[in-house]
Amino acid sequence: MIISSPDDYRNAARRKLPRFLFDYIDGGANAEHTLRRNMEDFRSIQLRQRVLRGTTAPKLGATLFGEALSLPLALCPVGLAGLYARHGELQAARAAQEAGIPFSLSTVSVKSLEDVSAGTNRPIWFQLYVLKDREFMRSALERAQAAGVKTLVFTVDMPVPGARYRDAHSGMSGPHAAIRRFAQSIAHPEWAVSVGLFGRPHDLGNISAYRGRRTSLSDYIGWINKNFDPEVSWRDLEWIRDAWPGTLVIKGILDPDDVDDVIRLGADGLVVSNHGGRQLDGVPSSIRALPGIVAKADGRAKVLIDSGIRSGLDIVRALCLGADAAMIGRAYIYALAAGGQSAVANLISLFRMEMQTAMTLMGVSAIDELGPHLLHKLPADYRSKNDHAARTCMRD
Ligand code: GLV
Repeated sequence: MIISSPDDYRNAARRKLPRFLFDYIDGGANAEHTLRRNMEDFRSIQLRQRVLRGTTAPKLGATLFGEALSLPLALCPVGLAGLYARHGELQAARAAQEAGIPFSLSTVSVKSLEDVSAGTNRPIWFQLYVLKDREFMRSALERAQAAGVKTLVFTVDMPVPGARYRDAHSGMSGPHAAIRRFAQSIAHPEWAVSVGLFGRPHDLGNISAYRGRRTSLSDYIGWINKNFDPEVSWRDLEWIRDAWPGTLVIKGILDPDDVDDVIRLGADGLVVSNHGGRQLDGVPSSIRALPGIVAKADGRAKVLIDSGIRSGLDIVRALCLGADAAMIGRAYIYALAAGGQSAVANLISLFRMEMQTAMTLMGVSAIDELGPHLLHKLPADYRSKNDHAARTCMRD
């Protein structure tokens, strides 16, 4: 199959993966309205084409939390990434290292944070949820620090898991799930041999290290349902700030009214996110929420964005609307499933090339030249949330 664009990896992943894994990554919550809106809203933002501006080759390098990035992009934490390719987390972390961007490891990864840290030269970011078992969280923070992690990504938009209807249909959960997963696996022999057989153990490395016994995929959904904590409040997060000496990034902010709490907590950054449309279906897209949050943060914290980014053009759009960097989840998992480390590296190169081409055609040479003045008129509700963007953005 010919791969010439980031989207090609989704088709390749669909062919390669058992259905329960493809649907788990590809799906969203409820009727998946927000999942679709995330992508549609990005595409509705029109860029300005400027000519003969005498630009030089665009420079994409950025500094984020004191770390040099070759482009303003990081790989999101994704649960079970190690099932999408053999030792998937390690392959993705190495691709990110090779490309000069951060990789974030999920709490619910297959490989443990010690294994992934030891397998890469660049410090990984580590993601933690708010879980009922505070001792687990405390020990995870200590282990992350010991493994050389400098940036903790704290996910706050999952006090309960969203209603993922596809999972019940696909065999990820629901009746006879284990048998259905087995049948799907043998129907995908390449995956079955490479990951199903030689990618063992299929464990939740970070959870098992803490519990002292293996936590299998069958335990996964049950463990998630038991351990997420709907009672959590900002006050519960204060001990995290005290216990974590490194960079703290709060992931899952979608409303400007939550920004002051992020700042009060002393976080260094936030990620504008609706969890890729996997949590509250019906909320706005992350790109629509971005300008209001940038305005409210007002330089007090770095603002990253995920949910809906499928191309270098989308990163350019997000930067024009004030993001400091973007994160991708599904996009890189499709590549990982399709071709492992080299495909993830190729995907990042494609994003880089798309950004450079777009910036040249927009007449800019560096990412700090991107701004709302390079967008055509924004839809009304982007404007009401960000007067500055509205004023400086070109009128149709
Ligand atoms: C976990 O974070 C998920 O979205 O499934």
